[in-house]
Amino acid sequence: MKVISSIIELRDQLRGQNRVAFVPTMGNLHKGHLSLIRLARQHGHPVVTSIFVNRLQFGPNEDFDKYPRSLDSDIDKLQQENVYILFAPTEQDIYPHPQEYYIHPPHHLGDILEGEFRLGFFRSVCTVVMKLISCVQPRIVVFGKKDYQQLIIVRQMCEQFALPVEIIAAETERDIDGLALSSRNMYLIPSERVEAPNLYYTLQRIRDSILSGNRNFSKIKLEALDTLTKRGWKPDYITLRKRANLHAIQPQEWHKPLVVLAAARLGATRLLDNLEI
Ligand code: PAJ
Repeated sequence: MKVISSIIELRDQLRGQNRVAFVPTMGNLHKGHLSLIRLARQHGHPVVTSIFVNRLQFGPNEDFDKYPRSLDSDIDKLQQENVYILFAPTEQDIYPHPQEYYIHPPHHLGDILEGEFRLGFFRSVCTVVMKLISCVQPRIVVFGKKDYQQLIIVRQMCEQFALPVEIIAAETERDIDGLALSSRNMYLIPSERVEAPNLYYTLQRIRDSILSGNRNFSKIKLEALDTLTKRGWKPDYITLRKRANLHAIQPQEWHKPLVVLAAARLGATRLLDNLEI
């Protein structure tokens, strides 16, 4: 595997390749990231991964400096997955000048849910993803459903800019107890780690209730919020949306593909999860 930080060198190495499958990440790779790489391999060739902790998408009180960085062990994992190129640019490579042009997702997608709790987050994600796509020039880009809103926003961005890429969605990888894998799980203290899968169990109960015909989502949601709060969580949201655009559902839309999404803090760690219905 070649590890490349310069955009010019990356383009040199990829010249003539027109089926590149790309997996952008912020590193500290776990099995979730590796499942994206395996999916990428099924859809294109060669596979390129990037590791770039994007300062723009961290708020002033978020964990940019503390965000786990483990380049050496990440390189080992990527080598085992036969990744062709790891693009690991420095901040100087990606932002040689202060970034003054941004991609603004529409308000109805970018400022809801995660965007409401993390102001400007999706503007920063879209801007860096656009830039990474422009560096790598892939045909396929793989994103995880774990970050459902990110997936939907990036997919619509690529469509609206007619980027010649296909976005492929990967299922969420979970630990055996159901907790969605995430770089941030390492912040959980042991007692919180034991509690953490309950976010997923809550989503499963909500799904089961809806599948059994319960249409009173306000009540379902209040009960779920109450249960989590009693267990020591501080929920930011639990919500039921249409998968296609994350809009709220109208009474006649219960037959559409839906997704229930949740974000909640457990101690100092904010966990995200979702489940398609
Ligand atoms: P990061 O959090 O490193 O995630 C990289 C990719 O891995 C994302 O597409 C994310 O949805 C996926 N992923 C994370 N946990 C997963 C899991 N348990 N199962 C399946 N996929 C999982 O998301 C980002 O980085 C950044 O915002 C980025 C897109 C790289 C832009 O900076």
